[in-house]
Amino acid sequence: MHKGEFVDYILQKSQKKPLLESVEVFAPANIALVKYWGKRNVELNLPTASSLSISLGDRGTKTRLSFSGDKKNHLIFNGEKIDRNTPFFCRVDAFFSLFKKGFQIETTNTIPTGAGLASSASAFASFTLALDQLLGWHLDKSDLSKIARLGSGSATRSLWDGFVKWEKGVREDGMDSYGVPLKNSLDELVVGLLIFDQEQKSISSREAMEITKNSSPLYSLWPDITEKALIKMQEALDLQNFDQLGQIAEKHALIMHSTMLTADPSICYSSPKTIEAMQKVWELRKKGLPLYFTQDAGPNLKLLFQKKNLGVVQQYFLGLSVI
Ligand code: PMV
Repeated sequence: MHKGEFVDYILQKSQKKPLLESVEVFAPANIALVKYWGKRNVELNLPTASSLSISLGDRGTKTRLSFSGDKKNHLIFNGEKIDRNTPFFCRVDAFFSLFKKGFQIETTNTIPTGAGLASSASAFASFTLALDQLLGWHLDKSDLSKIARLGSGSATRSLWDGFVKWEKGVREDGMDSYGVPLKNSLDELVVGLLIFDQEQKSISSREAMEITKNSSPLYSLWPDITEKALIKMQEALDLQNFDQLGQIAEKHALIMHSTMLTADPSICYSSPKTIEAMQKVWELRKKGLPLYFTQDAGPNLKLLFQKKNLGVVQQYFLGLSVI
């Protein structure tokens, strides 16, 4: 099934309420605590395993959407018109072209783009929410998350606040692969962003996933390891056990990066600063501070710790940006 057919199928359920002239929406970024890495279907962004994330409150993407009037898509990002020949424009254009109108897309990020901070997740989630309102679909959020998924896998989880699970699904057509908000909350949890590099990543996660899946000898273990990590993570949330959450999240991120390091060619998103910060976390933990990290497709780390330790963590990591 192609993306276009997938969209037509979902939109059969949509209402066609009168169209609005312009809408403005927001979607939060999310950080995966159990990661998504690798697709069973590249066209429809269907993952080999489920994943689980926490949304980042007011850090994300704001999008204002209207009709362009000339059947083409136009993109303004953080106040600048984006050239039609850039990979960024092409990716956004490919997504909006599925809806066969022609849009004026004005989008602003409150997080660095392309540095492994899941900005594509909030971007495609916000585009989907905006389309739903502008075109009057009134779809439920699980269907919207399937549409967001076509833009970026991690966008599947960016339609909600709090903890969200992306069910991998088993169907070939991807209709059972969508986000599910969890009832759990963990008020003491703080996510801190340790930003070393705001540059675009050296290799896109899309490409890196394919290389890893096709060449790492460790990748065959990934679905099973991830399934077990999800069970332990759900247990940690149910028991409100911060340490278990941190341990599972850190280990799962390290396993994801191990599959990349052992791919051919090797993919290494870490910089010397990343490794230095990891070692600092391990040292502080040895001294009794419950502090963990996770890392996505970029050199930056996200620290996980409890509210009561905010002061001390900030002392050790100057420039930490707290969510
Ligand atoms: O949504 P994508 O294709 O950019 O993939 C994101 C993958 C990770 O951020 C590394 C992990 C995740 O689950 O978000």
